[in-house]
Amino acid sequence: MHQKAMPRSGIIDAVEDVTPVVLNAMEGAANPRLREVAAAFVRHMHAFAREVKLTEQEYDIGIDFLNRIGQSTHDSHNEGILFADAIGFSTLVCLLNNGNGGPTETAAALLGPFWRMNSPRTANGGSIVRSATPGPELFVSAIVRDTGGQPVADAEVDVWQSSPVGLYENQDDSQADMNLRGKFTTDAAGRFNFRSVKPAGYPVPMSGPVGDMLRAQKRHPYRPAHLHFLIYKPGFKTLVTQIFVDDDENLESDVVFGVTSALVGDFKRHDAGAPPAGGVKPPWFTLDASFVMTKGEAKLPVAPIK
Ligand SMILES: [Fe+2]
Repeated sequence: MHQKAMPRSGIIDAVEDVTPVVLNAMEGAANPRLREVAAAFVRHMHAFAREVKLTEQEYDIGIDFLNRIGQSTHDSHNEGILFADAIGFSTLVCLLNNGNGGPTETAAALLGPFWRMNSPRTANGGSIVRSATPGPELFVSAIVRDTGGQPVADAEVDVWQSSPVGLYENQDDSQADMNLRGKFTTDAAGRFNFRSVKPAGYPVPMSGPVGDMLRAQKRHPYRPAHLHFLIYKPGFKTLVTQIFVDDDENLESDVVFGVTSALVGDFKRHDAGAPPAGGVKPPWFTLDASFVMTKGEAKLPVAPIK
């Protein structure tokens, strides 16, 4: 019979011992934040298994799902981010870390899986259409301000978007490398503007485990059409955000939960009048956008793809 007189911290006698034994084993981490995060992760994972009375078969499915997320990830696709996006975890972390609950007029939004480093530098007013990309033309005019309303000059602005058929260039052999991507610099008035084509909504990649999850949950795979922005300037918290096309049918059911009211853009359709540039045929669209940067540390995220 087991004697309890000499407790040995690593020996587990009953199901209720597991969590404290594991937490105890992890207490040696020198980094206090690592201790806090790892302990909370274990507590919640154990509580999750207890709550649903996880079966061994479900455990196997879960481990396989996790392994397949890694196996599905490569230089041009990041299934891990897609999974975090599709369960609302990316948006949760984004809102926890940005906007102070919403005092700024443009809040942050999830990075998504398609940002690439080294977008081509493009002059203000230039086009990010780098190979023939049929679709309605779009003219974006934007301003970046600080929380006091003053313009933020010399900020670097990365822009990236899908084509009018809903594909990013890295997913589409018919588009030139870096098509619909560009890097701008705000002028002395904090402004940047560019020419593009109207993006379309698109399905997230469905060939991996996240696709299996969405099918099992009877969820559609679509994101409403949007433009991505990443705005960087030392002294300010890097602003990663998106602006959504306001007439998109999936605006209220984004598969990755990225839409907040503040991020719905005012895309204006023009069917007549003087076009904003030579050779532009109606309908064309214009978008005026406004971004607010808060003081903080300028850090670039890890690029999800190469
Ligand atoms: Fe996107």
